[in-house]
Amino acid sequence: MARRKYVVGNWKMNGLTAALGEAQAIFAAAGENKGVDVALCPPFTLIGPMISAAPGAAVGGQDCHAAASGAFTGSVAAPMLADIGASLVIVGHSERREGFGESDADVKAKAGAALAAGLSVILCVGEPREVRESGGAADYVLAQIAGSLPGDFDPARLAIAYEPIWAIGTGLVPTVGDVAAMHGAIRAKLGEQAGGSAAGTMRILYGGSVNAENAAELLGAGDVDGALVGGASLTAGKFVPIIEAAAAL
Ligand code: 13P
Repeated sequence: MARRKYVVGNWKMNGLTAALGEAQAIFAAAGENKGVDVALCPPFTLIGPMISAAPGAAVGGQDCHAAASGAFTGSVAAPMLADIGASLVIVGHSERREGFGESDADVKAKAGAALAAGLSVILCVGEPREVRESGGAADYVLAQIAGSLPGDFDPARLAIAYEPIWAIGTGLVPTVGDVAAMHGAIRAKLGEQAGGSAAGTMRILYGGSVNAENAAELLGAGDVDGALVGGASLTAGKFVPIIEAAAAL
């Protein structure tokens, strides 16, 4: 079966309750583009209110702890996300790996905890600029997959997001050929680790400076099943054209 396109907004540390109207407008547009799966990952504080404002919408977290509960001040556990109605969580975003020192093993544990709690997972990988410039991007990203992919999982509930760090929030994007090559290499690696049937089911999203102008080209690249969008997901005006571009493919 063909993989459905998946367009996910990562609001990062942005959004007060006043932004819930944008989420409602985004999910209303998602309802009109039924061929595309759409989700939003706002800050923890907005997950419950967003689900109340847009019942039935796919809303998720941007991180979770690997433990189900315990003395971890400031952290949120995967079962807590599921308990308030979240259906997914992002793990391993480069802003967590780089800014909070998360290792591949940490990301793997978080992904496993999220799956055990019944959530879907978006597992992020991506190389820094100097690695891209030295020609080592594929090796770097495939090593991240090897180290952070859980051992046993439902491929329908685990997506990979390829987000080159140097493309995040910079307006820089790899060439469509480079994106297709990396996504093809990731799918081959998933085949090695999880089997060909799982690799054929799993969605691989591109993230990094996706906007209304470049979405159609990036989403149309080989082995690209959707987008993980930061800045351009904060308003319906910028995000809905990306959903529409995915629907038109
Ligand atoms: P931008 O779309 O703002 O570049 O962010 C990408 C990203 O990090 C999404 O997780």
